Amino acid sequence: MPSSGIAPTLWRLWPYLWQYRLRVALALLCLIGAKLAAVAAPLAFRQIVDDLDPARLALTFPLTLLCLYGVLRFAASLFTELREIIFARVTQQSIRRLALEVFCHLHALSLRFHLERQTGGMSRDIERGTHAIATLINYTLYSILPTLVEMTLVLVILWREFPPIFALVTFFSLLVYGCFTVLVSNWRIEIRRRVNETDSAANSRAIDSILNYETVKYFSNEAFEARAYDERLGNWAEAATKSQVSLSYLNLGQQLIVAVGVTLMMWLTARGVADGEMSVGDLVLVNAFLMQLYLPLNFLGVIYRELRQAMTDIGRMFELLSTHQEVSDRPDAAVMPAGAQEVRFKDVHFAYDPARPVLRGVDFVIPAGHTVAVVGTSGVGKSTLARLIFRFYEVTGGAITCNGRDIRAFTQESLRALIGIVPQDTVLFNDTLYYNIHYGHPEASREAVLAAARAAQLAGFVESLPEGWETRVGERGLKLSGGEKQRVAIARALLKNPAILIFDEATSALDSHTEWAIQKQLEAAARGRTTLVIAHRLSTVMNADEILVMEGGRIVERGRHDALLRQGGLYARMWERQRSERREGMEDAI
Ligand SMILES: Nc1ncnc2c1ncn2[C@@H]1O[C@H](COP(=O)(O)OP(=O)(O)OP(=O)(O)O)[C@@H](O)[C@H]1O
Ligand SMILES: [Mg+2]
Repeated sequence: MPSSGIAPTLWRLWPYLWQYRLRVALALLCLIGAKLAAVAAPLAFRQIVDDLDPARLALTFPLTLLCLYGVLRFAASLFTELREIIFARVTQQSIRRLALEVFCHLHALSLRFHLERQTGGMSRDIERGTHAIATLINYTLYSILPTLVEMTLVLVILWREFPPIFALVTFFSLLVYGCFTVLVSNWRIEIRRRVNETDSAANSRAIDSILNYETVKYFSNEAFEARAYDERLGNWAEAATKSQVSLSYLNLGQQLIVAVGVTLMMWLTARGVADGEMSVGDLVLVNAFLMQLYLPLNFLGVIYRELRQAMTDIGRMFELLSTHQEVSDRPDAAVMPAGAQEVRFKDVHFAYDPARPVLRGVDFVIPAGHTVAVVGTSGVGKSTLARLIFRFYEVTGGAITCNGRDIRAFTQESLRALIGIVPQDTVLFNDTLYYNIHYGHPEASREAVLAAARAAQLAGFVESLPEGWETRVGERGLKLSGGEKQRVAIARALLKNPAILIFDEATSALDSHTEWAIQKQLEAAARGRTTLVIAHRLSTVMNADEILVMEGGRIVERGRHDALLRQGGLYARMWERQRSERREGMEDAI
């Protein structure tokens, strides 16, 4: 549950505001200045009214006071605007800092977290959270604090200038007003929630129905769809009516309290004037104060509701920030030294979910500069090996070492800097082809990028495009074919020029001709590097220094291609099956 108390939320926001303490202090001074001017204006006005008394008018015309009144009115606005100017930067920069912090934190969270969370929901949480900060700061600074300051000032003046009953009546009517508003608003929050819920329900029903346009037609179910939609619209209309009516109750109640308070005060003042204890100016003053006080209170209900919503939203964002990092650097983590790497899996056990082990004691070594291939049926845990080398997850037993040192002893950043991967599923940034390849090594020159693209057999394809390198690849790279995407991934892995290379089904989406051409390039790229190749098509791994055959979370066979064939085990059977499929494929083609 996100905490929604105002104090803890403000407390957590404090560090962001504290860095602008000078501006905060200045803004507060402006706020007090504006309110002093705002309450001084009616005081001047009282004097003007009293001076206009025919009995006194003969003596002096209150010109100075009139000018002062104008100046005070303007000063109130001037200070208010100054406060906004001074504070704008604080709000926006705090939002910026917090949004960046959340963003970096999201990158630091584990792959598991990201696979389990819906990205859409998460980005809405962040957006709402940052928006809520603006709401919170704005309402607190621009509505609540000014109103409180003004109330205090007015109460102090009333207390000093008039008999105590004036301040007491004002104070209690404000108190009753505030309590009533909070109580009714709490009740209305439920109603508002119901309006929003029914609204989304109706909306999603409509969208789902339209998305299924063809299915609706296939079954001639238009009337059925309309009924279902109308039913939800009915719920919404019901809730919305209730919300509207309850708002009227709130307004009515508030106005009743105001009317009673004002009448009482005016009655007290009028009696004072009648008794000769007060002047007409006093009557005007009290009236002006009451108007000034009650006007901003009209929005109290809305402000209260928005603030509560803002607290919840901010709470949710902070909750995201306090999500524990599953894979984190040790305090004494070292930077991994560059250079040739020997990668070793020492009796590695691993499970995504404790109830279902994936790796049960995997043991192998890739000597520096060698190529080891892993084959096995789908779901046996091959890609998992790559994720573990990258430390997307921690091994549950055993260890992975590089040049004899556990990879957990290094910072994740330095470890990942030395590894290049062509993943099984490539996702691209919604940008240009050039950008996506350049991403592999942002400092690389244009020549290097083009060379990597040539090696990945991309050059011909790019030249055939009307926009060439500047072609945009669409969301997640969906405008490219599977094979094109894979070649972009190969190009950017080659551009990174890492000490350790991992090819996870790097050529699975390519036709055999392109695959053959790229295979040569990949073998050339692998030369002198520690390389792990994961493949289904055994013909692509037959030149590896060692081939590991996985089954049931373990390595069941290992050796070079010829030796494994001679052994006549699982590998030999897989080879035979793929060869006959290939032959059949070729015969079909003829
Ligand atoms: N994030 C995850 N959470 C839970 N289970 C997972 C997760 N990722 C993979 N698995 C499971 O772990 C097992 C091994 O997955 P892995 O991706 O390593 O298989 P693979 O050998 O690469 O298969 P393929 O040849 O189909 O790519 C699979 O049974 C899969 O369902
Ligand atoms: Mg895989």
